[in-house]
Amino acid sequence: MNILIIGGGGREHALLSIYSTSSKVKKLFSIPGNDLMSFKAEKPVKIFPKINPTDKNAILNVVKKEKIDFVDVAQDNPLAEGMVDFLQSKDIKTFGPTKAAAQIEWNKEWSRDFMKKHHLPIPSYVAFSSIKKAKEYIQRLPKGGFFVKASGLAAGKGAIRCDNKEELLKAVEQMKTFGKSGKTFLIEEALIGEEASIYAICDGKNFKILKSAQDNKQVNNFDQGVNTGGMGANSPALVTSGVKVNKRIKQIIAMTIKGMRDEGISYVGVLYLGIIIDKKKNLRIIEFNARWGDPEAQVVLPGIKNDYVSIVEACIKGDLNKIKISEDKKTRVCVVGVSRGYPGDYSKVKNKELFGLDRATKIDGVEIYGAGIKRNGKREFVDGGRVINVVGEGDDIFEARSRAYRAISLINIKDNNLHYRTDIGWRDVDRRLNR
Ligand code: AMP
Ligand code: GLY
Repeated sequence: MNILIIGGGGREHALLSIYSTSSKVKKLFSIPGNDLMSFKAEKPVKIFPKINPTDKNAILNVVKKEKIDFVDVAQDNPLAEGMVDFLQSKDIKTFGPTKAAAQIEWNKEWSRDFMKKHHLPIPSYVAFSSIKKAKEYIQRLPKGGFFVKASGLAAGKGAIRCDNKEELLKAVEQMKTFGKSGKTFLIEEALIGEEASIYAICDGKNFKILKSAQDNKQVNNFDQGVNTGGMGANSPALVTSGVKVNKRIKQIIAMTIKGMRDEGISYVGVLYLGIIIDKKKNLRIIEFNARWGDPEAQVVLPGIKNDYVSIVEACIKGDLNKIKISEDKKTRVCVVGVSRGYPGDYSKVKNKELFGLDRATKIDGVEIYGAGIKRNGKREFVDGGRVINVVGEGDDIFEARSRAYRAISLINIKDNNLHYRTDIGWRDVDRRLNR
């Protein structure tokens, strides 16, 4: 089989790696992909860096020319623009939710209304498409924490935390900077508790829940600084341990898949549930996404022991119930190495050389996935904000974490331009040490 993955970051690289372990796979393709995908790959890999991942006709041409048997749409924008619907209408086997199903991510107003209608546990919220009306509403709000969120996709930057009226008024004004995505926005109650990411693979009716994960979004240690696309992750996230939490997670996913069916939508693909767990182990939903998380995919996917192609084929056929998914018992920690300045201006770092990758990949129990990286001959150069994803595995958080940090400490970007957090997975380290 020839498989094409739409997307080009660490998540897509992790997907490419798991697909490549299947005996059914001959060649792998990625649009746009990244240059590290073919570095030490087990199977032939071809990338198309010049093709935009939302360019339907260009993608169709590649599918025909390269005799692609199957497409996995992994990235949010092409999903929101109906890439799955388009490819399926051309009789191409495609994995991922349709545009209507992916609405659970790209239309936060629809998504919250859906959750409310189907009695899912959510914070209180109100949607606005008038800044004036939102400002009037803000005057009536009680004291407390809130989030102002653009309803459309905003590259992980669309949610602004506000702790008083001044911040709320400013955040509402900021919605204008998101263009079409910020035309409608939500003001919602800030939930208190610990966050975790849950992934379910769904065939429209049946689903399988995988090992949980925890993202570290802020740019600096101690969860300080602005939000990024993700500075690291660990899996499993121990906050999700226990019968009560797991039962509730299962219930929420089941209610969501059934709710979608009741709306006439078959959810086929990966469903990402972001939750907050409070001290009493009650759960509330932050959001749904219609895909794997990045960098969570880098710590969840390598733990799956099944042939991933068979899982995905079962989803497309609608018989996921016939498959038993098994995962290893390992803990994984991903540390994301970014260009100094990210998520702000990192233009001075672009094209600088990255050193040490070869040595770092030789460390036992370490996998490295690329993102904003280019290769020229045997040398690597920076080509984006998030550059590399260094994943360490181990029997527990300590072993996984020390492997990831041993590997990333061997890497640098010329003139000391590699930035990474040194506290990824801190919650579970704390939890284990304080037990
Ligand atoms: P989003 O853009 O919806 O993914 O939100 C980004 C981040 O903001 C989430 O990962 C949470 O950490 C935080 N967040 C969003 N909404 C809420 C909420 N209602 N309560 C607490 N945290 C939230
Ligand atoms: N890790 C958060 C996301 O992928 O949206």
